[in-house]
Amino acid sequence: MSIIKANNLVLGYQREEPVIVNATFEIKHKDFVFVSGPSGSGKSTLLSSLYGALTPMSGNLSVCDISLSKHNARHINRLRTRIGIVFQDYKLIEEWNVEQNIALPMQINGYKKDAIAAQVEKLLSHIGLLHKANKHPLELSGGEQQRVAMARAIAHRPALILADEPTGNLDDFSSDMIWSLLKSANEQLDMTIVVVTHRVPMRTNISYRHLFIDRERNTIYEQH
Ligand SMILES: Nc1ncnc2c1ncn2[C@@H]1O[C@H](COP(=O)(O)OP(=O)(O)OP(=O)(O)O)[C@@H](O)[C@H]1O
Ligand SMILES: [Mg+2]
Repeated sequence: MSIIKANNLVLGYQREEPVIVNATFEIKHKDFVFVSGPSGSGKSTLLSSLYGALTPMSGNLSVCDISLSKHNARHINRLRTRIGIVFQDYKLIEEWNVEQNIALPMQINGYKKDAIAAQVEKLLSHIGLLHKANKHPLELSGGEQQRVAMARAIAHRPALILADEPTGNLDDFSSDMIWSLLKSANEQLDMTIVVVTHRVPMRTNISYRHLFIDRERNTIYEQH
């Protein structure tokens, strides 16, 4: 069963040379995929196309059975209920506390109050931040904020997690926690995981597929 299907995908920005050309790849249910490439190669660009924030210049792209080639707002909303996103710069809501941030995707997806409270507590305990439930993002360290962002992405049990450099600025302790959360989301909750990063981590015991963005040809290949 395929979760992401890209055929001759071309991605870029108005009036600029395309960033990625002729990318053809398929990501299947329960795959754990690293997409690597140097800075400026198009990793964040690729991820934006996968969550519907960037319309392809040409080619076909479907994510969770939703075609993104010529999307409309209704389709994007449906897509967002099925995916969890971890941004390079966390993007937590600063005015809300940790608990409220993690609860947001469950509220959007119509979870009941009790179910939300139980899930938030479970996730907070997983990320070792039960004691910071009432703190606001700016009162947390970068590693703590990224752990909260990860909990928020997983909270509504999406089919697909998209993560942009999720351990870019973190120490080993927070990095290990992020990788083990993603690994158990993949193995125990059957989530498909796509992580873009400039370097595939060495210290994890995850079995993964590796796609890379070839800087010379501006396209995506599988690394065997
Ligand atoms: N909004 C935009 N408008 C025009 N060009 C953009 C825009 N965003 C990114 N680019 C260009 O697209 C190319 C790829 O950028 P992208 O952010 O996808 O790289 P990246 O691989 O994520 O890099 P990094 O590792 O530094 O995060 C760069 O040349 C960048 O200048
Ligand atoms: Mg980037």
